[in-house]
Amino acid sequence: METHKQLTIGLFGFGVVGEGLYKVLQQTPSLKAGIKKICIKNIDKKRNAPASLFTTERDELLNDPEINVIVEVIDDADAAFHIVSTALNNGKDVVSASKKMIAEHLTALLELQEQTGRSFLYEAAACASIPVIRNLEEYYDNDLLHSIKAIVNGSTNFILTKMFDEGLDFKQALVLAQQLGFAESNPKLDVEGFDAVNKWTFLLTHAYGITAGPDQILFNGIQDIQAADAGVAKSKGQAIRLVAQAQKLRNGKVAAFVLPQFINQEDHLAFVKNEYNGVVIESGFADKQFFYGKGAGSFPTASAVLSDIAALRYQYRYEYKKLYHHQPHELSNDIFLRVYVSFDDINLIPKDRFEWIEEWHANEDRKYLVGVLSFDELKNNNWWKENNTSLVLTPDPVIEDLELRKLKKKSLELAGIL
Ligand code: HSE
Repeated sequence: METHKQLTIGLFGFGVVGEGLYKVLQQTPSLKAGIKKICIKNIDKKRNAPASLFTTERDELLNDPEINVIVEVIDDADAAFHIVSTALNNGKDVVSASKKMIAEHLTALLELQEQTGRSFLYEAAACASIPVIRNLEEYYDNDLLHSIKAIVNGSTNFILTKMFDEGLDFKQALVLAQQLGFAESNPKLDVEGFDAVNKWTFLLTHAYGITAGPDQILFNGIQDIQAADAGVAKSKGQAIRLVAQAQKLRNGKVAAFVLPQFINQEDHLAFVKNEYNGVVIESGFADKQFFYGKGAGSFPTASAVLSDIAALRYQYRYEYKKLYHHQPHELSNDIFLRVYVSFDDINLIPKDRFEWIEEWHANEDRKYLVGVLSFDELKNNNWWKENNTSLVLTPDPVIEDLELRKLKKKSLELAGIL
């Protein structure tokens, strides 16, 4: 078997992650991996590396037979897909950190890996420094993985922490996240939940064999969260986090979504602050396990890219076990969610679409209610994202059908209706 093969790298991108990787590789001579050429868009920009390394010609890297590894850390998803597919077709292994590109082209990328037999690794694309993909892929057997609950976007977590623990306003917190290199070049991708749902799509593939596009998953970001919502959270001893969740249901399918959520103090995710990410896995016999680490930033992301590069020495490839070797799971909308909704005007809230409402707070400046909605109601409508309305899931928000009937009966009894 060919081991410890010499790795000659062609690097695309020299931004926060690319430059981080360049420095990290210089400090890891034992890896015997060297960058031969770096492809960038703007040749006139001053770079902290010898000018002779840089080019603007993609093909100088993609057609160089000596380069056997392409590392791609650019943020243009279309260009990234072109680079990755050409590299795989040219017989090169590829390491990528482009979550948007992977989420949008997952099916094509799966086919390309089958056709070419090359490795395509992307540990850095989700939760940066936390080795979550390899763990989901290698460690957890399909049937044992009951649920995953995670914070997968560093910028929004950073913003929520700075706003609610340190009193910064949204704008200040976002600018800081940008200055520190956590945010996407278009920060809307972070703030409105696109980045988190992109990451969730392929984490669901490695966890459950699900190959859904980002448009098939219910999601929102933190753009609607208001100071009053944080006040409610505090009064209940809770915090608000943007949480990606997947849960196996009694029908054998999986419910998945990415939404802001109230988190109890004793929840592991309450511990996750600033640009850190966290993943809580609940499995058959181990009960809960908690993965924690930096989810954004130059070196934490470069560390995951480095680990993928190191894995190529041993021809490591994702097998997509849950997709190819098990019966893959399907997504299910067959659940109900317990939600908190705050609003300016009750007339803009379709009260009759709630299964029931269990709390009303109509006297505060910012009015709110707590009630139960079907997943489909949220998936198929936008009222909960409009007119200054904000929706936050309650802790343990998922209610399955049978459970719903029992809870409904109880709530009606309490209300004296039955
Ligand atoms: N903008 C991303 C985040 C970078 O904040 O999580 C890491 O993927």
